[in-house]
Amino acid sequence: MRQTVVHGCVAALMGVLLCSAGFGAESGVQLVARADRPGTRISPTMYGVFFEDINFGADGGLYAELVKNRSFEFPEALMGWSEVKKGATAGSIQILDQDPFNATNPHYLRLKLQEAGNGYGVANAGFSGIGVRKGEDYLFSAFVRGDEKARLCIELVADSGQVLAHTTLKAVRSQWTKETGKLRPTATEAKARLQVLLETPGTVDLDMVSLFPQKTWKKRPNGLRADLVQWLADLKPGFVRFPGGCIVEGRYLSTRYQWKNTIGKAETRKLIINRWNDEFKHRPAPDYFQSFGLGFYEYFLLCEDIGAEPLPILNCGMACQFNSGELVPLDQLDPYLQDALDLIEFANGPATSTWGAKRAEMGHPKPFNLKLLGVGNEQWGPQYIERYERFAKVLKEKHSEIKLVSSAGPSPDDERFHFLWPKLRELKADIVDEHCYANPEWFFDNAGRYDKYDRNGPKVFMGEYAAQSVKTVSPENRNNWQCALSEAAYMTGLERNADVVVMSSYAPLFAHEERWQWRPDLIWCDNLQSYGTPSYYVQQLFSLNRGDVVLPVEVTGQPPATSKQPGLYVTASRDQKSGEIILKVVSNAPRPTAADVKIEGIKQVARQGTMIVLAGAKLTDENSLAEPKKVAPVTSSLKGAGTSFQHTFPPYSLTVLRLKARD
Ligand code: AHR
Repeated sequence: MRQTVVHGCVAALMGVLLCSAGFGAESGVQLVARADRPGTRISPTMYGVFFEDINFGADGGLYAELVKNRSFEFPEALMGWSEVKKGATAGSIQILDQDPFNATNPHYLRLKLQEAGNGYGVANAGFSGIGVRKGEDYLFSAFVRGDEKARLCIELVADSGQVLAHTTLKAVRSQWTKETGKLRPTATEAKARLQVLLETPGTVDLDMVSLFPQKTWKKRPNGLRADLVQWLADLKPGFVRFPGGCIVEGRYLSTRYQWKNTIGKAETRKLIINRWNDEFKHRPAPDYFQSFGLGFYEYFLLCEDIGAEPLPILNCGMACQFNSGELVPLDQLDPYLQDALDLIEFANGPATSTWGAKRAEMGHPKPFNLKLLGVGNEQWGPQYIERYERFAKVLKEKHSEIKLVSSAGPSPDDERFHFLWPKLRELKADIVDEHCYANPEWFFDNAGRYDKYDRNGPKVFMGEYAAQSVKTVSPENRNNWQCALSEAAYMTGLERNADVVVMSSYAPLFAHEERWQWRPDLIWCDNLQSYGTPSYYVQQLFSLNRGDVVLPVEVTGQPPATSKQPGLYVTASRDQKSGEIILKVVSNAPRPTAADVKIEGIKQVARQGTMIVLAGAKLTDENSLAEPKKVAPVTSSLKGAGTSFQHTFPPYSLTVLRLKARD
């Protein structure tokens, strides 16, 4: 029997065409949008991103450093490193901390070679290997001290043993000096290793052994992985929330995130354990630490580069309540409050101020224009309220221009949530951060959640959400089309309620294929490649087709759509600059839905518009490195539009219609 295999995208497109023609469609549904009754303004921060150093999101991910344990500060000081002997050589390696080049990260490696051989030294395995591309430049650097006659050779070696690139350092000096070299591999390799070899007898000390691609984002030294930043830039996010998540809280207060330890020269940033190192017994990551090479300065720069508002989250004197729940006594909160004030000065203060000067010294005399600040991550209980109150009092007194983001706890509807909300309302909190990891049904069933919210209370930030195909923290969760579709349905409700919801972000953002702790995630990568999940494309379609004002839209001819009663979920908005009316329509119906679309209160809607459809051939469809675009948007021209037209929405789809309109 002959079989015809139709590619997922082609199948989806065929579905779209058949549906546009109305074949096999259900009918009787009407979508009526009112162009003459523009509602609330949609905040430019409506769709943003939440970055946390989980799943090797920072070191081994977004931060482009390719060497693991570059400063030998992991508790197991040689983790990531191994001895290399080429031929019969007699040498030794030692970890020392006397007379270091830097007291914050004092350990360094001593290489000793007794007799000349073909090379003796160490290899670094990178983060599950080092990804390098043929013909591109890689910049090696290290702090080196030793016998001036010593010759140090640097190599990139493939898994097969083939040397891909080789260079010799120009000099070794008797005092700690930063030495550099350039490597250009002759082949692309996802799992290379870096070798540092002594070729002459002698002793050499090494620290901060580093390798970066020259092509970082904007070619910045100490920079970020360009392909990963590009995914973010392509979302045009309204904000970046950073650096977490639970990472802010720490399992213990001693391992909380302290922004002041993440600025200044990279080698002076003190390494600590990453809280996801040993959080999940089912996904241990014993080599997960935070070098803070990606620190607060880099986060601010990233926001500036991609036009997003920075939203730093600060520890409020509470360690993670899922772990130790350690508390800073209220009368000892001052250093935490001072950290918040100093952060505002670091971001916004003049270059002549104490903290503004540090920003200027790092290369950014102009302020970063910080407007938002998070007080704690996912805290709860009276302990949180007491601490939030202190923060709010001090910060509002000194910086009324900064909007504070407070926590509604880890669940969208439990006793912690119901305790926190009234308290925060009483305290006149600015923006309350809600979190929700739930099954797709929850998202399909809660698109109307904010219809019922108090219009006069604090605004809402849906700060962490993602549909879980199995259950929260299950390693079996998948980034499939059903999850993404349910998020899209939910997002129509966020946007329709833009007078209440002012920010939202999917979580978590990045994951490395071999080194993740938590799934689902928005963007996946290995050492060389990356792809966006179906959820990524949902976020992108909402963000790029946000519009500036909400238009009222009514759906008749169907009961309100839910997981059990599938139908259309709709939001309408208007882009004030282009005048376009934007309809975002999610269908969780198993068959095409023919709808009469009407735009009322407008003179003219052009017959031709734009249609973007995101749909999977199956609800279980996922993207992958092998099939990165299995579920991806398909853009086409929409014909036969007008103030009143019929349109058939494909089953299980997100459709964006952009209609050219004239008042
Ligand atoms: O996104 C993963 C984790 O989920 C975050 O760190 C935390 O805020 C939430 O519990």
